[in-house]
Amino acid sequence: MKRETFSSGLAVFFATLGSAVGLGNIWKFPYLTGQYGGGAFLAVYFLCILFVGLPIMVSEFYIGRKTRKNAVGALEELKPGTSWKYIGIMGALSSYLIMFFYSCVAGWVYFYLFKAIKGDFAGITMANAQSQFGDVIMGPVSPIIWQFIVMGVVATILAMGVKDGIEKITKTLMPLLFVLIIICDIRALTLPGAGEGINFLLQVDFSKLTAAAVLTALGLAFFKLSLGMGTMITYGSYFTADNNLFGTAAKVALSDTLVSLLAGIAIFPTVFSFGLEPSAGPGLLFMTIPLVFSQIPFGNVLLVAFFFLTSIAATTAMLSLVEVPLAYFTEERGVARPKAAIINAAVIAIIGILATLSVDKSSLLGSYTFLGRGFFDWFDYISSNVLLPVGGLLIAIFIGYRVKKEDLKRELSNHGRLHIDSILNVYYFILRYVTPALLLIVFLNSVGILKF
Ligand code: PHE
Repeated sequence: MKRETFSSGLAVFFATLGSAVGLGNIWKFPYLTGQYGGGAFLAVYFLCILFVGLPIMVSEFYIGRKTRKNAVGALEELKPGTSWKYIGIMGALSSYLIMFFYSCVAGWVYFYLFKAIKGDFAGITMANAQSQFGDVIMGPVSPIIWQFIVMGVVATILAMGVKDGIEKITKTLMPLLFVLIIICDIRALTLPGAGEGINFLLQVDFSKLTAAAVLTALGLAFFKLSLGMGTMITYGSYFTADNNLFGTAAKVALSDTLVSLLAGIAIFPTVFSFGLEPSAGPGLLFMTIPLVFSQIPFGNVLLVAFFFLTSIAATTAMLSLVEVPLAYFTEERGVARPKAAIINAAVIAIIGILATLSVDKSSLLGSYTFLGRGFFDWFDYISSNVLLPVGGLLIAIFIGYRVKKEDLKRELSNHGRLHIDSILNVYYFILRYVTPALLLIVFLNSVGILKF
């Protein structure tokens, strides 16, 4: 059977952006920025995108498109019989860990969409917004049902294939997401007290930057750009032969960061305008957005649209998360695509219950913690702050020190058709020296070996 590819440059861009844009922008980015003090955190985050995220993204595209294989098969093809393929295996593992809690939050988003359609948020107050969020996440049965619905949708789209599933969905819905977020921003910016929220985002106060904040910014950069776990290897393997890999990486990183900022602009003015705490944590999005829309004409229609599009963002990101093990099982183990899609989704939904039930701290599972974290937080912490950066470091070392520069040049220039000499040199230098050094410093610091 012929291996599928995306059908055009535009399809490549929207599918890849569909992977990058997700709950990371709309849910995680605002609440982490809130918790770690705003602008200073943001500044470190931008540096991580530039010096760590972009070079690793290009490297993953290279591995994928050169070999046209899943993450495990790709590394095995480049260095047969070595341990490098474990980068791919570790990637599949990270993908499961992320999906366990991601599918839970996506379930809350679908549930919010349903509630918005029913009109549950009409004329709500702040206290009401908080209690509704509590009801949604505590369940205990309904969030599990929504988590299963989410996984059903993901499995269905994936079973339709790369072109008819992933490409069609992302190309239709990503542009809409932009329009909607901008409408939310206009509303948020016209709230009384909006300026305070914007100041919070832009104020750079480096005294708030703890080592934990730096590690979190780095982890967020990986999580945001879907790096360090083979997603971009897998998607890269579906890219068209004439795609400019540097160009795609730059466009995707830029657009993704723009969406994060637009989400921040929608959320922080509301936070300040309604006197919420910017450091409210994972519930931030769910408590602010219904308030933004509660008092304007057609607010409910906008609210439905917003949660619809957040559902889309979450769903398109999950497609890419599950595609990593899915491509592995279909190509390396010969499992039929629909079957692999269903089995993976089912396993994720079932184990994901642990994350969903651990949110209610008064429940049996929720009160169980290990070193201060419950299941939800551990899945999140180990994947974002440990596995993705370690995966990224290994990819940087692999490409920087185990692949010949001529080979990189040939693939990245599309066999000489693009003139990339100067950008290649900058990329190669950063990838060999800057990226690994930054990653090592942050790691050694986070485990306490290096103190600054
Ligand atoms: N980038 C996605 C987001 O920000 C999450 C993701 C992580 C997707 C890793 C794929 C791989 O929501």
